Amino acid sequence: MSRLLSVENLSKQFTLGSGLWGKERRLDALTEINLEVEAGETLAIVGESGCGKTTLGRCIIAAQPVTEGRVVYHPKAGQSVELTALSKREIKPWRQDIRMIFQDPMSSLNPNMRVFDIVAEPLRIHKICKRRELEERVISTLEKVGIPAEAVGRFPHAFSGGQRQRIGIARALVLDPKLVIADEAVSALDVSIQAQVLNLLEDLKAEFGLTYIFISHDLGVVNYIADRVVVMYLGHVVENAPTEMLFERPRHPYTELLLEALPIADPTRRKPRKSEVRGEIPYLGNRPTGCPFHTRCRYAQEICRSDKPALRSINGTAQQAACHFAETLDLKGAYEDAGHSAREMAHAQ
Ligand SMILES: Nc1ncnc2c1ncn2[C@@H]1O[C@H](COP(=O)(O)OP(=O)(O)OP(=O)(O)O)[C@@H](O)[C@H]1O
Ligand code: SF4
Ligand SMILES: [Mg+2]
Repeated sequence: MSRLLSVENLSKQFTLGSGLWGKERRLDALTEINLEVEAGETLAIVGESGCGKTTLGRCIIAAQPVTEGRVVYHPKAGQSVELTALSKREIKPWRQDIRMIFQDPMSSLNPNMRVFDIVAEPLRIHKICKRRELEERVISTLEKVGIPAEAVGRFPHAFSGGQRQRIGIARALVLDPKLVIADEAVSALDVSIQAQVLNLLEDLKAEFGLTYIFISHDLGVVNYIADRVVVMYLGHVVENAPTEMLFERPRHPYTELLLEALPIADPTRRKPRKSEVRGEIPYLGNRPTGCPFHTRCRYAQEICRSDKPALRSINGTAQQAACHFAETLDLKGAYEDAGHSAREMAHAQ
């Protein structure tokens, strides 16, 4: 596999309105994020609400300026484009290659536009093709996501949630992108519709040779679709590992906590899993010193309160974690009581 995108030491701060005594407050939404996306993989980004998943996606598509660091796109072997160094005009052609699908298909689709125009709009903005060719491209893309040609004159409200998400996917795919960032793309859908849209995303990936960054708070969905998982906590990457390794044996206590809350339908389990993640997330504007997770960590020691652990490879494997004790802690994976591999269980559901 070749590298498609690199995120290097990326930090993003938001400046909030004046707080007490008229002082400006800063919020560190992302802190020194490093990750790489390989061509053809599905990389999931997971973590609780507010950990910075959407902000990271928006920084990657340059919808938001970064405070520090770089996003580098590698369109082909030997070519690197630093997206974060480009002006609005310079970045426009690369926006065709990297597209984002949003969580709420109702609010991300213009209710006053017909489906045809919603999907045609990116082609018009990028002046890709005209009239007949444009019409053919829009209709064939909509058909590929399961929206029939006779429905293209309707408005979004005439479609179900699952169909609207299909239209959002068509809008992203019509430009023939290389990388698609799906931000909670199935979270608003019923479980059965979720499965259909996930299967559609898998099929489209194979057909168009796509690479996905799949943002989700749902580890069950992530286990189903992702090759690799990046776990974020308070704007930091705390673990980055191939899906199977992460589910079998997490190396960061926060990942263990997330897996513990993963509901699974398995009658052989001794204890049912809790569906909530234990503890409260600290306010981002008042982050703990040392390890960002120490206020919730059941394994925290004195050093955790003062020293921040670096993200590093564990025992030379593809699994990276940012915990002082990642090599020695014996953390519980998902399904460990059931004796099945994580993948088997996800696909059996
Ligand atoms: N434009 C903004 N101005 C100020 N703060 C912001 C802005 N956008 C995001 N934030 C803050 O940055 C942090 C990260 O937000 P973000 O939306 O990236 O989280 P998330 O992981 O996507 O959460 P969720 O799972 O709820 O979608 C949050 O504390 C959020 O309030
Ligand atoms: S460094 Fe300490 S507080 Fe942080 S995750 Fe590891 S054990 Fe927990
Ligand atoms: Mg979000």
